[in-house]
Amino acid sequence: MKVSIVRESDVNGFDATVRFTGIKPSDSEEKYDNIIRNAAKVARDRNEFNGKLKELLLEKTTGMPRWHLLAGLGDNNSSANYGLMASLSIEKVRNEGAKSIAFIADDAHDNELYNIIIGSLLKTYSFNKYKTVGLEDIKSLSKIGIISDNPNADSILAKALIVSDSVNMVRDLQNTPSNELTPKIFAGIAKEVSDEINAEYSSISGNDLVRQGYTAIASVGQGSVNEPYLVTIEYKPPKYSNTVALVGKGITFDTGGISIKPSERMGDMKYDMSGASSVLGAIRAAALLHIPVRIVCVLCLAENMPSSNSYKPGDIVRTKSGKTIEIDNTDAEGRVVLSDGLYHATTYNPDTIVDLATLTGAAVVALGDIAAPILGNNQSIISSLLFASDRTGEKLWQLPLWDDYKDDVSSKVADIKNTGTNRMAGTIAGAMLLKEFVNDVPWAHVDIAGVANMKDRERYYTSYGGTGFGVRLLVDYIENVNKE
Ligand code: BES
Ligand code: ZN
Ligand code: ZN
Repeated sequence: MKVSIVRESDVNGFDATVRFTGIKPSDSEEKYDNIIRNAAKVARDRNEFNGKLKELLLEKTTGMPRWHLLAGLGDNNSSANYGLMASLSIEKVRNEGAKSIAFIADDAHDNELYNIIIGSLLKTYSFNKYKTVGLEDIKSLSKIGIISDNPNADSILAKALIVSDSVNMVRDLQNTPSNELTPKIFAGIAKEVSDEINAEYSSISGNDLVRQGYTAIASVGQGSVNEPYLVTIEYKPPKYSNTVALVGKGITFDTGGISIKPSERMGDMKYDMSGASSVLGAIRAAALLHIPVRIVCVLCLAENMPSSNSYKPGDIVRTKSGKTIEIDNTDAEGRVVLSDGLYHATTYNPDTIVDLATLTGAAVVALGDIAAPILGNNQSIISSLLFASDRTGEKLWQLPLWDDYKDDVSSKVADIKNTGTNRMAGTIAGAMLLKEFVNDVPWAHVDIAGVANMKDRERYYTSYGGTGFGVRLLVDYIENVNKE
């Protein structure tokens, strides 16, 4: 896929053009060329097109460009909507058979332009690594042009390429099945990313985890022949004043372990490493963008399997922090690996910690695949992430983390237990356990169980497979930490 900033006179080299408008036709249509201006007037008069968000008007001609689109943004001026409409436009003309598309966005502001490019690059992603037949039938674009007068267009394009490339790297990781993405292979990929960004890489695996006291992550991984890994990547720019730690749940496959899951949809548990992949994508993008923030990225990689060696319900594990966890259900393994990962992150003295994890089915029940619950011990970091969420369109919704919920995770035999009570407030119960391991460092937890992947539903520029949710959110958050 080639994306470039082009001039107005270049549009004849494209199969399709896209222009943006709002509810009021006066917004910009008057300036548009005859074809689309007339089409818009007729369609508006007939009430067939009103410029509402998600509305697309398609006009076909015999010349070049052949397809002319007018994309509605509604009256909402969120720049994230430009990305949404860019992706819907691409889908529309791709189905028509177009191979190239030009966005005419002369007066788009920085963020709007950025979102058009990001939306396009995320929409054109496809995962065909495992297909050997039928590839020639897949409809795809080869060229995207952006017509813009914005003097920052080139640097905006450069940034969008870095971020979308990182999101798409994350999606490749998510979509790769667990037979080809074990903790060890994941750790190897993390090492490559670390080298690419000149960061410091370290990993602890297998028995070394037990020897060094990381018994929680070791316990979750002990039932599999594929050993667990705790990976740390430290990116230290020449100048910085803030340190952000990013911690990700990286269960390369979650069978549930001895508390085994039903077989229906179990295959989706290959996505249980989405948190780890998104934090890896975020540190990569942030470093390539030279954001002056020190970033410590911790990946908790393990495979949760039932075997004669597995950890079992009733076990009590001693975590690296010294606190003990009673295992009530081996399927609540994410919080167990994160207990060591979060504690490990605190030893780098970060100013804030953010973790991403496909932690609970309850998060899917609460918010579906539209938004991710966010919880934490510090309102200011949560607010910063909520702002980042508004800017990027990666939706978050806050749930409380009051002490009232503490009883739900209390244990009679250990310091805490890894399940809540009677399946009540499952997402909060999960976060209540995590909270015990961050040592009062300002921390937020994002439960991405519902948004990490899609099944034939159009969301976040994705209809099927991994979404890379969290990369854009975290990059935006890190870009702004110095300002707050
Ligand atoms: N990986 C799952 C959570 C999950 C469920 C992610 C659905 C994506 C889609 C997690 O490890 C899990 O199984 N959690 C249990 C916890 C329970 C046993 C306390 C859950 O949510 O049911
Ligand atoms: Zn589980
Ligand atoms: Zn899990």
